[in-house]
Amino acid sequence: MDTGLKGRVALVAASSQGIGLAAAEKLAAEGCKLALCARTRATLDAAAESIRSRYGVEVLAETFDVTDPAHVHDFVAATVARFGSVDICVTNAGGPPAKGFLACTLDDWHNAVNANFLSTVYFAREVIPHMQQKQWGRIITVTSITTKQPIPDLVLSNAVRAAVVGLVKSLANEFGKDGILVNNVGPGYTATDRLKSLAAGRAQATGKTEEELFAVWAADSAVKRVGTPEEVAAVIVWLASECASFVTGQTILADGGAYKGL
Ligand SMILES: NC(=O)c1ccc[n+]([C@@H]2O[C@H](COP(=O)([O-])OP(=O)(O)OC[C@H]3O[C@@H](n4cnc5c(N)ncnc54)[C@H](OP(=O)(O)O)[C@@H]3O)[C@@H](O)[C@H]2O)c1
Repeated sequence: MDTGLKGRVALVAASSQGIGLAAAEKLAAEGCKLALCARTRATLDAAAESIRSRYGVEVLAETFDVTDPAHVHDFVAATVARFGSVDICVTNAGGPPAKGFLACTLDDWHNAVNANFLSTVYFAREVIPHMQQKQWGRIITVTSITTKQPIPDLVLSNAVRAAVVGLVKSLANEFGKDGILVNNVGPGYTATDRLKSLAAGRAQATGKTEEELFAVWAADSAVKRVGTPEEVAAVIVWLASECASFVTGQTILADGGAYKGL
């Protein structure tokens, strides 16, 4: 299957590890030039160097926090200066802490809105004018299964991710005429550092071991296992590709059938 991605410029936010890194690697394997970011220099540089040497593609890597709109502006400008355009933008950030409603501070709420909603707004504002110029673009947001099915003690994710879905549908409607497709990917339980830290937190709160918690999460899905970051990344790459040229405004779960609805 020809994905049509060779030579495209893909910006992947929060991409030094986990789902973001897996998406960057798969886009590199398809021949995309990459712009990557994360907050920690050492892991980001290691990820960028590994991608360059394995896939032979150009990689721009900048350290900054995606909650800072000025840095997002500068990063998109640097990407366009280096590669001439930004064709694909995958928005992503670390997930909010697992807490019940009364345990959440106002800082928790502000942080979740900044990282998991406003960062998407910042990237969309910057990349859309470039995509309009080219009359081609893909924006893919990484959220969670919580966009369809709230998870206990993840009230921050349950509430804030819904705003991303509203944004995705609105952008899809407004910019489809410009050849820009906007979709959302919702991972289910996926074996990354994020899931390990959720397990560690829940283990403390419940007295269960981390292994028991992973077994519960696996049993909750139709396929009876947690996913890999590569399995989520495959959906992101498909949405970025020409294969998904008639798909926009959608939330697609990569959750092994954990979502219980129709
Ligand atoms: N794994 C799962 O089971 C699962 C399930 C549903 C939804 N999700 C969501 O999917 C997203 C990715 O999850 P993951 O499991 O891949 O997480 P992860 O393994 O913790 O990786 C997070 C990545 O984002 C970077 N990052 C975090 N906050 C950032 C910020 N403010 N600015 C710039 N970079 C930032 C991290 O690097 P630095 O720390 O160096 O910045 C790292 O590269 C999260 O929103 C998560 O909640 C994950």
